[in-house]
Amino acid sequence: MLLPWLLVLSTVGLGARGDVSWDKAQTKDMLERLQDLFTNISQLTGKGRLDVATVVSRKEWGAEAVGCSPRLTTPVGFLIMHHVPGLECHNQTVCGQRLRELQTQHVHSNNWCDVAYNYLVGDDGRVYEGVGWDVQGMHTPGYNNISLGLAFFGTKEGHSPSPAALCAMEGLISYAVQKGHLSPLYVQPFLVKGENCLAPRQTASPKKACPAIVPRSAWEARETHCSTMTVPAKYVIIIHTAERTCNTPDECCPLVQTMQSRFMDRLYTCDIGYNFLMGQDGAIYEGVGWNVQGSHTPGYDDIALGLAFMGTFSEKPPNAMALEAAQTLIQCAVDKGYLSPNYLLVGHSDVSNTLSPGKALHNIISTWPHFRQ
Ligand SMILES: *[C@@H]1O[C@H](CO)[C@@H](O)[C@H](O)[C@H]1NC(C)=O
Ligand SMILES: *[C@@H]1O[C@H](CO)[C@@H](O)[C@H](O)[C@H]1NC(C)=O
Ligand SMILES: *[C@@H]1O[C@H](CO)[C@@H](O)[C@H](O)[C@H]1NC(C)=O
Repeated sequence: MLLPWLLVLSTVGLGARGDVSWDKAQTKDMLERLQDLFTNISQLTGKGRLDVATVVSRKEWGAEAVGCSPRLTTPVGFLIMHHVPGLECHNQTVCGQRLRELQTQHVHSNNWCDVAYNYLVGDDGRVYEGVGWDVQGMHTPGYNNISLGLAFFGTKEGHSPSPAALCAMEGLISYAVQKGHLSPLYVQPFLVKGENCLAPRQTASPKKACPAIVPRSAWEARETHCSTMTVPAKYVIIIHTAERTCNTPDECCPLVQTMQSRFMDRLYTCDIGYNFLMGQDGAIYEGVGWNVQGSHTPGYDDIALGLAFMGTFSEKPPNAMALEAAQTLIQCAVDKGYLSPNYLLVGHSDVSNTLSPGKALHNIISTWPHFRQ
């Protein structure tokens, strides 16, 4: 069974930019699409106050004496909020125990230098010190050196954090801004990221969570009405856009928007040509999405998902984050029934007269599962 929280991952868009409140359309859209549990987190305004008496230090929860050394340059511009399901706890004794288990997992199974987050908030309404304010966490590849990673834990699987936890998180964010750890103009590139961790581990299926996808609304897509896709798709076609690349959401969003305009205004296609696009920021940008036909490969658009790496990859391949993002997306597509389990993966040049996806990228995808020249 998919946790509701994992659905959150795949459907949720951007957080606030500048202002910490939500615009109406975004909130409405979200309320329509997401479980009730999600609304409570969305209403965090960051206007609360942190009661320092509720902060549990590493010493108090019995942290293992390890640590990460890379420092954060503060104030950071990004806030990444996480949710670690399945570590239920309602008092400091049990929450401390769960956090020690989490740290053990992160350090000894994942080989990270410490527990992944800067701070964690338990369902008991207490704030637990992770790596602290000044040290880089290990929570979100590509963002660790420019963001704070704050996590809810202690929540029953599939449930919203408790009102006390939500309140404590508000206080924590507000404190971070007041004390100069977090820029007042901070951006939340993903609303909430999840971690499929400890408790579900023994029982959960090996399926990986679907990755977060930056929705069309985030890059301000023009509205379109295009032909629908035949799902499940039979092919994955790997493409490069053969132009600029982008390394942050701030660069990628306008780039995707420009591409949509170029497709529609110059090539007279119905929409941007690709189903999804990968940036060098490791994020996945929704193109036409799962259910709509792209316009990338004549003869294949209705039966193939066109996944485009933003950039030119003839000499140098995309970075590891972008490659991993695409692979996770493909796995997710199979898990969710958008892609046939027997799909074939091809390079754009294998089915069309083009140099895309570039030699360096083609060399890499030719080692991926289901590749067929
Ligand atoms: C969200 O918060 C409201 C009160 O603020 C509470 O009544 C409701 O049960 C919460 N929803 C969930 C799913 O926790
Ligand atoms: C903490 O919670 C656990 C499980 O819910 C319970 O067994 C224990 O007695 C509680 N401890 C305290 C100090 O309240
Ligand atoms: C963060 O890390 C990336 C990649 O390692 C690097 O390019 C970037 O300059 C770093 N940013 C800061 C603010 O340290």
